[in-house]
Amino acid sequence: MSKYITTPIYYVNGEAHIGHAYTTFIADTMTRYEKLKGEDTYFLTGTDEHGQKIEESAQKYGKPTQEFADEISATFKNLWDEFEISYDKFIRTTDSDHKKGVQKAFEVMYAKGDIYKDFYEGHYCVSCETFFPETQLVDGEFCPDCGRATSIVKEESYFFKLSKYEDALLKHYADNPDFILPRSRANEVINFVKGGLRDLSVTRTSFTWGVKMPESLNDDKHVMYVWLDALMNYITALGYGKDDANMKYWPASTQFVGKDILRFHAIYWPAFLMSLDLPLPEHIGAHGWWTRDGEKMSKSKGNVVSPREVADAYGVENLRYFMLREVPFGQDGDFSQRALIDRINSELSNDLGNLLNRIIGMSGKYSDFEIDSVDVLKYHKKELDAMDEALSNLDDFMQNMQTHRYLEELWKLFAIGNKAIEEYAPWVKMKENKRDEALATVALVANILAKASIMLSPVMPKTTNIIADALNFTIDNSSYKELVLEKKLLKLFNIKSVPPLFPRVEEPLMTEAPAAQPNAPKNTAPEVKDDKKEEDNLIEIGQFFETSLKVGIVVEAEEVPKSKKLLKLQVDLGEGINRQVVAGIKEFYCAESLLNTQVCVVANLKPAKLMGMMSEGMLLAAKDEDGLCLIRPEKPKKVGTPIG
Ligand code: ME8
Ligand code: MG
Repeated sequence: MSKYITTPIYYVNGEAHIGHAYTTFIADTMTRYEKLKGEDTYFLTGTDEHGQKIEESAQKYGKPTQEFADEISATFKNLWDEFEISYDKFIRTTDSDHKKGVQKAFEVMYAKGDIYKDFYEGHYCVSCETFFPETQLVDGEFCPDCGRATSIVKEESYFFKLSKYEDALLKHYADNPDFILPRSRANEVINFVKGGLRDLSVTRTSFTWGVKMPESLNDDKHVMYVWLDALMNYITALGYGKDDANMKYWPASTQFVGKDILRFHAIYWPAFLMSLDLPLPEHIGAHGWWTRDGEKMSKSKGNVVSPREVADAYGVENLRYFMLREVPFGQDGDFSQRALIDRINSELSNDLGNLLNRIIGMSGKYSDFEIDSVDVLKYHKKELDAMDEALSNLDDFMQNMQTHRYLEELWKLFAIGNKAIEEYAPWVKMKENKRDEALATVALVANILAKASIMLSPVMPKTTNIIADALNFTIDNSSYKELVLEKKLLKLFNIKSVPPLFPRVEEPLMTEAPAAQPNAPKNTAPEVKDDKKEEDNLIEIGQFFETSLKVGIVVEAEEVPKSKKLLKLQVDLGEGINRQVVAGIKEFYCAESLLNTQVCVVANLKPAKLMGMMSEGMLLAAKDEDGLCLIRPEKPKKVGTPIG
């Protein structure tokens, strides 16, 4: 049986943040895991490019919508390529094959009598691309999901008979308790359906940026509702609607989504599929949110962490490991560098990296790097049994998407290895002339590392290849079968030295949260602003003057070693004593060029620590796609001159 794994297709209204990376990492890990087991697996990701939200975003940027969509879609694809995400197809909803497939699906549902024409009047939230009944609005006006103002939309619309599928959906949830994972999420869906489903408006006439109606309906006024269009991607990617469609991968085995869009995937999507007479996916896996200071990270809020920035600083595989290990699937997690660093240092560097180094060192000394498993069973049956037990638990955890339990269980192997070295102390055995025993312990650990690397490879494919290379084997389906399933041991080989795989991280490698450090350049070039209008954010003049802005002069400037972004400056603000300002401008200014130049400084910020250094102010700067520039007085002014 083949497997089909999908991520949501991400909106092109802003670049990817670590929330998107998380979904994509889990799906990639699951795909690699299935392939390791020898399953024929297809992995789909892509971008969602239609709808009013995208049209408005493009307008804000003054770009033709398609051009805007092309640019942002490419940033997603490039990022996944840099991260070596093993997708088989990257779909875009502006692809012509996709559009034809959606039209075909619409025709099929229409012909079946599941789509009819009527009028719609309701409260619409553009940001969520969703209608809400009056009763669900907050204070009669605001969107219950995102809190933004809704607007009243009245228009002719085609409707999908969602209500017709109420009973069939409830039956499906009851008959398939693992349809929605984690199971704890199913109740909210079931209750929503039990509360009664209203037919769904599936076309719009108020804007044009969408898939056109099928020609057979001859109704050009309408374009398709973006969610109908978007959900269909999972089948159009396989060629649905084409004569030579290859639907062998359908139904999907696991469709990963964030909990924000579970309702669309667990209610609308299966109803559409029933209408199309297609089987339903096996699992909809809904994970929780990555938050910053407890708030959901989101493109429109702008409180995002850039995955590229984290990967540049800490390594993409360390980030994958961290995200999959840190939060139980389904729950929210707060992103912090501290937590990431702790896991790198204690779990990756200590537990795993050191273990490998220790046996390279010992085998070098005792046996000229030769490792022989011949006596492992004789001296270490207990450890082998414990290892096999942990290995046999892994599959269940992965199938249930419990990646944190999977990794926790896998780390038991390294604990067994580390403990064996302490307990059997091969260096003592060597002194006692028990060379066979000493070498058996080293070989035990080599086998532990080999088997654990195979099972860790879906999470950290490159790093584990380096380990496998040192241990003279290749990670693939046949080594998985031999070493994991058939429990064989490594054949006689010479171990190779490797460069340190997980250098310890002593201090945070990135400037802190954008919220705390507005000075730090953000890595999201065409960041699209919130839908909120400027008027909503007006302040009183007094509020402005709460900020003390002053002219200063840079009297010392130096680079912060190990940081890509930071310069450490001493700035004279006419206070008799210089201020130290740590600014994220290294990519744009060299230290010397700043000496004796004037700058504008926010002088009454609470001091903050950046990479262990106090920063007692912030420089004003402006940043766009072309880079960052400091804001300076047009003519030299006395130091300390207030600005305002
Ligand atoms: O909803 N934490 O696209 P989208 C974890 N186009 N995951 C997060 C996250 C966070 N803070 N923020 C986003 C759409 N995600 C539609 C989907 S599918 C047919 C159409 C991830 O760009 C998570 O997977 O808003 C979430 O469901 C998805 O990105 C939403 O991405
Ligand atoms: Mg969203």
